[in-house]
Amino acid sequence: MTADLAPADVDFRRTMGCFATGVAVVTVGGPEPHGMTANSITSVSLHPPTILVCVGRNASMHARLMTAGCFGVSVLAGDQERYARAFADRSRPRGRAQFAGVPHRQGPRTGAPVLDGTAAWVECQLIGTHAVGDHSIFIGSVLDLGFSRRPPLVFWSGGFVRLPVAMNAGEDTDAGGDTDAGGDTPGPPPA
Ligand SMILES: Cc1cc2nc3c(=O)[nH]c(=O)nc-3n(C[C@H](O)[C@H](O)[C@H](O)COP(=O)(O)O)c2cc1C
Repeated sequence: MTADLAPADVDFRRTMGCFATGVAVVTVGGPEPHGMTANSITSVSLHPPTILVCVGRNASMHARLMTAGCFGVSVLAGDQERYARAFADRSRPRGRAQFAGVPHRQGPRTGAPVLDGTAAWVECQLIGTHAVGDHSIFIGSVLDLGFSRRPPLVFWSGGFVRLPVAMNAGEDTDAGGDTDAGGDTPGPPPA
């Protein structure tokens, strides 16, 4: 398809909005930590474990990721929509202040903030970037990870959705931290 025949923005958004995703807060650490809501995250490779996140060039997170060299991904649970909204709000405070009132810990491998009470979390070392259109793909080698049994927050058709399921609440051993990923880690097969 040539550029003049490219679909309208609204059609692209509506079409891709049919592809339901989870919702995460991508973070970088350091003296001025930063977090940004993102749903363009996917696993790339199992051996070695690798993920990607796409970030708009206009986002402050873009420059922060380029220099940080590592990042965290906190996969939000169904009851954490407020964090998805907060870290997407361009008027939010900068630096540490944006994490005030957000229970979190410092990722031991990256120093990036990792939110508490999430469905899952990942710490990555940045191993590559690829510019595409108005975004860049940031490729992360997974250094550490964990998950709880909390149902994830879902983004679908431009809105937040909570799954109508209670996933084995008794198995959730997260007491501030999360379980280490075991052999039954849920997730799609790598591409
Ligand atoms: C559900 C949801 C998903 C989003 N996913 C992305 C994404 O994958 N990549 C991106 O660059 N922005 C995404 N955004 C928009 C950013 O969160 C938003 O522009 C944010 O204010 C950018 O922060 P920053 O410029 O302070 O880094 C998403 C927003 C929402 C609400």
